[in-house]
Amino acid sequence: MGKVYVFDHPLIQHKLTYIRDKHTGTKEFRELVEEVATLMAFEITRDLPLEEVEIETPVSRAKAKVIAGKKLGVIPILRAGIGMVDGILKLIPAAKVGHVGLYRDPETLKPVEYYVKLPSDVEERDFIIVDPMLATGGSAVAAIEALKKRGAKSIKFMCLIAAPEGVKAVETAHPDVDIYIAALDERLNDHGYIVPGLGDAGDRLFGTK
Ligand code: PRP
Ligand code: URA
Repeated sequence: MGKVYVFDHPLIQHKLTYIRDKHTGTKEFRELVEEVATLMAFEITRDLPLEEVEIETPVSRAKAKVIAGKKLGVIPILRAGIGMVDGILKLIPAAKVGHVGLYRDPETLKPVEYYVKLPSDVEERDFIIVDPMLATGGSAVAAIEALKKRGAKSIKFMCLIAAPEGVKAVETAHPDVDIYIAALDERLNDHGYIVPGLGDAGDRLFGTK
């Protein structure tokens, strides 16, 4: 079974409160989502392998650590995942970025795939799929499937807010995928929205309705 990590750092919780607040406008919402993504990226990269190099400081020669050439890929689920990408790239600027386009059919709540573009060498890359919301889990499960179908072997899933139903769906369908979240909310409502959640992440990020 995959592990579930809740990043409840005070800065993340503080920013998440303003992300949830319905009075927060598009500009501030976007900035906050990006900032939380950066903070989560700091935590999610804790296990990156290091290697030793020799450098010269102004005082002496020294052995020091650098990240050991890991190939990373960040995959936003369109649309709302896009809001997290720049925040992650602030910390890992060399990561490649792919896209998985999915939307939830409003009637069935089932994900509909409309676009997939991944970096090359899929099999050697460690992927982080990002989306602010894990609700029924349909989109996350489908995005993970889309990557696996194309050869991905190492996948993490990162989101801001998850419902217990979504976590269970990912755990059941993809027990090899660890899940990283900023908050685990109470439940889904009858429309498949997370309660209390933050509303429609894509609409709030892009100012659409
Ligand atoms: C939202 C959200 C997730 C999905 C989560 O996207 O960004 O991708 O719903 O719901 P699920 O866990 O029940 O699948 P939406 O389908 O609204 O598309 P959008 O990002 O284009 O607005
Ligand atoms: N998608 C969203 O954007 N918000 C939810 O609460 C559920 C799915």
